[in-house]
Amino acid sequence: MYKGTFLIKDNRLFFPATNRNRKCIGDLLSTIPLKGGSILEIGSGSGEHAVVFQKRFPEILWQSSDPLLIHRNSIAAWIDYEGLNFKMPQPIDINVENIPWIIPSKVKESLHIIISINMIHIACWNCTKSLFRESSKLLKNGQFLILYGPFKIGNKHTSQSNNLFDKSLKMQNKLWGIRNLEEVSNEAIKNSFVQEKLCQMPANNFSVIYRKVSK
Ligand SMILES: C[S@@+](CC[C@H](N)C(=O)[O-])C[C@H]1O[C@@H](n2cnc3c(N)ncnc32)[C@H](O)[C@@H]1O
Repeated sequence: MYKGTFLIKDNRLFFPATNRNRKCIGDLLSTIPLKGGSILEIGSGSGEHAVVFQKRFPEILWQSSDPLLIHRNSIAAWIDYEGLNFKMPQPIDINVENIPWIIPSKVKESLHIIISINMIHIACWNCTKSLFRESSKLLKNGQFLILYGPFKIGNKHTSQSNNLFDKSLKMQNKLWGIRNLEEVSNEAIKNSFVQEKLCQMPANNFSVIYRKVSK
């Protein structure tokens, strides 16, 4: 599990970072016209973001996902706790590397954004590749794939704390680590995405909005 990240209450997990970044990520989402449709979240973790964003953007359908059962149980418990059972779909089991992703048809047909928060540095590089490949198949031109998390820029860490964080990730798993934005964006280009917007976020994080374009 993730160092120092949660306390358990019933099945609900608490990831402290979600408290710190939910407002700024929500503010970023609010800059994108969200007139209905669905958003697929990859690597939803505890589910705290999912319920907060579903409540903040009631016009959309927030589809959470995670490969870990303990996380899916937490997401389901948060949905129940927040009284969102009649509004939100239950979390689905998506491991980005297992393709094709199985998504309910209601979500797939109305999908216009895929978002992944703090996932790609806690997974192998192939997960980033797979995320872009599969997102490209699911999204139509003009739709968005949004990533949030720490990145290296020009192969350099943007802070000393990110440098230390990167080292601690690699000690946990040598395939993990903070990704270089240019390499991530190369994967985007290979899969028909352009970098629409790069936003500096608090605590040395970035949000990157990629827009699907035609080949
Ligand atoms: C640091 S947690 C972030 C969770 C949540 N997005 C947040 O910001 O609190 C990373 C998440 O990525 C998920 N994850 C790891 N490998 C994955 C993979 N191959 N496919 C999809 N999700 C994955 C983990 O299960 C975990 O929930």
